Amino acid sequence: MIKDRIRREDLRSKIMSAHEASMYIKDGMTMATSGFTPSGYPKAVPLALAKRAEEGEKLKLTLITGASVGDELDGALSRSGVMARRYPYQTNKFSRNAINEGKVLYQDMHLSHVAQFMNYGYLGKIDVAVIEALAITEEGGIIPTTSVGVSPQAISNADIVIVEINTSQPMALEGIHDIYMTEKPPHRKPIPIASSGDRIGTKYIPCDPKKIIAIVECDIKDNVRPLGPIDEDSRKISSHIIEFLEHEVKMKRLPENLLPLQSGVGSVANAVLGGLVESKFENLTCYTEVIQDSMFDLIDAGKVKVASGCSLTPSEEGLKRLHANMEHYAKYCILRPLEISNHPEVARRLGVIAMNTAIEFDIYGHVNSTNIMGSRMMNGLGGSGDFTRNAYLSIFTTVSTAKNGNISSVVPFVSHVDHTEHDVAVVVTEQGLADLRNTAPTERAKRIIEKCAHPHYKPMLTDYFERARLGKFKHQPHIIGESLSWHDRFLKTGTMKIK
Ligand code: COA
Repeated sequence: MIKDRIRREDLRSKIMSAHEASMYIKDGMTMATSGFTPSGYPKAVPLALAKRAEEGEKLKLTLITGASVGDELDGALSRSGVMARRYPYQTNKFSRNAINEGKVLYQDMHLSHVAQFMNYGYLGKIDVAVIEALAITEEGGIIPTTSVGVSPQAISNADIVIVEINTSQPMALEGIHDIYMTEKPPHRKPIPIASSGDRIGTKYIPCDPKKIIAIVECDIKDNVRPLGPIDEDSRKISSHIIEFLEHEVKMKRLPENLLPLQSGVGSVANAVLGGLVESKFENLTCYTEVIQDSMFDLIDAGKVKVASGCSLTPSEEGLKRLHANMEHYAKYCILRPLEISNHPEVARRLGVIAMNTAIEFDIYGHVNSTNIMGSRMMNGLGGSGDFTRNAYLSIFTTVSTAKNGNISSVVPFVSHVDHTEHDVAVVVTEQGLADLRNTAPTERAKRIIEKCAHPHYKPMLTDYFERARLGKFKHQPHIIGESLSWHDRFLKTGTMKIK
């Protein structure tokens, strides 16, 4: 019953249909919503907005979320043409297409910046916040569901707040959240997190009840993304990383239970973490952004003491498992606002081991995580930069080839740069792992080609590197006119291989 979930009596009069609530949202507005990596995003109100546009109403909005959201929001608003501008990360194929077709203006941002940018008004005035909630407390506090994202800043900055109470979300989620918000400089204090499990805030998001103008009931489940199977390549990548971490422990550069792990989004990242189930590591902690299926495996295997993140991001199978065992998993998990889960200060203090996925990396260690062939936006940077720059150890993984071997993921020069050589410590493919610490670019190039490139592309990369070294400048040698020719060849012939 929705009424039981609205514990503050005077707010019960605000219950209305999704369509009625949507009527508070007008053309040209900026809407900030809950939601992070298809979890905990509003569903009923966005569907009502899309319907209004489909019925002929002129309705264009700017949408700000914590990260990617499900099809009922990103997909529905892209298909109906409601979405005009989008921040800061997405994974939906319809919004991706609309961005790549130039129909939606997209700013791909470091996720840790979003809260601060909202607080300073850089993303414009926030007209309305639409927040999925588990319940509303007696004080009017909003208890989030499967993610926190930028909901605290959406609520504090918006003129009005619409709450979607999602009755499909298990009440066992109550208590999992830890809401802490920072002040603006110069009044900002150190964030008092000294280990992944520290709780420093409230279990709900404070909200002035006068701002809540509508409450909508919804029972649509999170439309989560499938995860690819853990294949042979991912297993190899995972075992290279585990071997490397064991070596680092032996060298006394890491404690026996490692340092807090951060693991990125997607199938490879999930597989890498999954590999730890069979490893000898115990008492692991995680300070990460997304908690994917493998984390539940690690918890079940008794390997993880605590997992701090911004969202629970299971696959469809994982969602069923989560819902059936929520009380169990909630004991190990803490969900924090994006600003805190990805905070550079905390990542640096805890000494996070960051493991993220690259689309491609080059022979000098620059990484492209976002733009395929330099200009086709895939998803976005997400939190990869927040962790990579500030981690104790930053690792990037990718399979050495894509598209049936026609693309080498190790290239002379990345076609778009998200992470530079200065931030990337280790790169790994199924072929092997290259430790780039303490290397000059030319040493790095040899190591990356030798350890990570696919055998088919090794001679081509070596040939490029050797010819580049004949040039005048020997520090990071390139033949600039040729450096992106591999991508050009793929675009023209469908393969990077020389026929
Ligand atoms: N060149 C061209 N395309 C490539 C490629 C390359 N070198 N490498 C991969 N691709 C394509 C794949 O073929 C696939 O295409 P498809 O969707 O048409 O099938 C797509 O990119 C995704 O590849 P996949 O192997 O399924 O990757 P993934 O699910 O492991 O995701 C990223 C990889 C990089 C897209 C994903 O990790 C991401 O969005 N990263 C940025 C955000 C981030 O790191 N966040 C984490 C912070 S916590």
